[in-house]
Amino acid sequence: MLETLTRVPPDPILGVSAAFQADPSPDKVDLGVGVYKDEQGKTPVPRAVRTAEQEVHAAQTTKTYVSPTGLPSYNALVAELVLGSDHAGRRTDLSLAQTPGGSGALRLGAELLNAARPGATILVSDPTWANHIPLLGTVGLKVDRYPYYDAQNPSVLFDRMIGHLDAQPAGTIVVLHACCHNPTGQDLTPAQWSEVAAVVARRGLMPFMDLAYQGLGEDLDRDAASVRLMARAVPEMLVAVSCSKNFGIYRERTGLLLGLSSDGERAGITTGHLGRLARTLWSMPPDHGAALVERVLSQPALRQDWMTELSHMANRINSLRGLLAERLSAVSGVDYGWVAAQRGMFSRLPLSSGQVAFARDHHHLYMPPDGRINIAGVSPANVDRVAAGLIAAVRS
Ligand code: LMR
Repeated sequence: MLETLTRVPPDPILGVSAAFQADPSPDKVDLGVGVYKDEQGKTPVPRAVRTAEQEVHAAQTTKTYVSPTGLPSYNALVAELVLGSDHAGRRTDLSLAQTPGGSGALRLGAELLNAARPGATILVSDPTWANHIPLLGTVGLKVDRYPYYDAQNPSVLFDRMIGHLDAQPAGTIVVLHACCHNPTGQDLTPAQWSEVAAVVARRGLMPFMDLAYQGLGEDLDRDAASVRLMARAVPEMLVAVSCSKNFGIYRERTGLLLGLSSDGERAGITTGHLGRLARTLWSMPPDHGAALVERVLSQPALRQDWMTELSHMANRINSLRGLLAERLSAVSGVDYGWVAAQRGMFSRLPLSSGQVAFARDHHHLYMPPDGRINIAGVSPANVDRVAAGLIAAVRS
């Protein structure tokens, strides 16, 4: 039976890591997968998470099942981190399910939406995270795009985005990157978010927000402001939350699907569906990462230490942005100030897949074929080489 399967092409993002590992050059730089890197080029486990790991290990007396929707105290703490202490006024309308990473939350949300409206249209930004379309589309939803980014003149195509959303029928699902837009790093301004929320509410669209980088753009509150704004504007929405990046626990697969319903009774029904769907997908989510996050968020000293380290990570990324923008501008004679102004781990350079291959083959710079670079892969030690190689690729 399996002989009917044909070979799959390498994953556009994970394939870059494999190619990077195989390159023996001491000059190679990994600008690929979206993981944070410190001054030594390592992806650290935050201090607070390491302490929580010891405490959880010491306190744990059983590894019996938790439940298909996960650990309730973890769900509640992450929901509060996202919505704020007042829950954006929606405390009783929540449905929460712990998921295997943000990807699991996206998948569970897509399954829920397809159960509610089989074959509904789901719009993603153009461009979007490479895994959005496979994750969301294989459920049965019809994936389409809305205009978002002008690559030649790095900026949001806001009028076209709004015009497109304003022409959609009620019930269309819209995936929105809450902060640190992946792959462009170009976020909406607070004023633009207000306009988007108004159109979504007026047209009766269903927002599905992807929050994978809370705390890595500006800070925990400002990075979640778009979600809180939307939660106050619409009766129903979904949010896929990832703890991979801000807690540095990528491989622990720790996420949350947060649903808002029009009232508490609908929220209870939605929670029932989330549990049933999770049971058919992974039965129960993995526990360890959620136990760590629960510990960090519930212990004031650990929480404070984690917030300090997270803000160091965000500041470091933003200062690397400034450094790279300055070197790119100096090497090329063209203004790359937009790289400094964007937020989060990514910027997308105007490179074709051929130019990306040129950067890899001639300068040992590794990035996905769409020209997305992970700013955290840049360092004061390699920034000259990175800038020279990227500009050579732009000109190739
Ligand atoms: C990324 O966008 O690089 C990360 O979120 C990792 C992934 O799964 O693609």
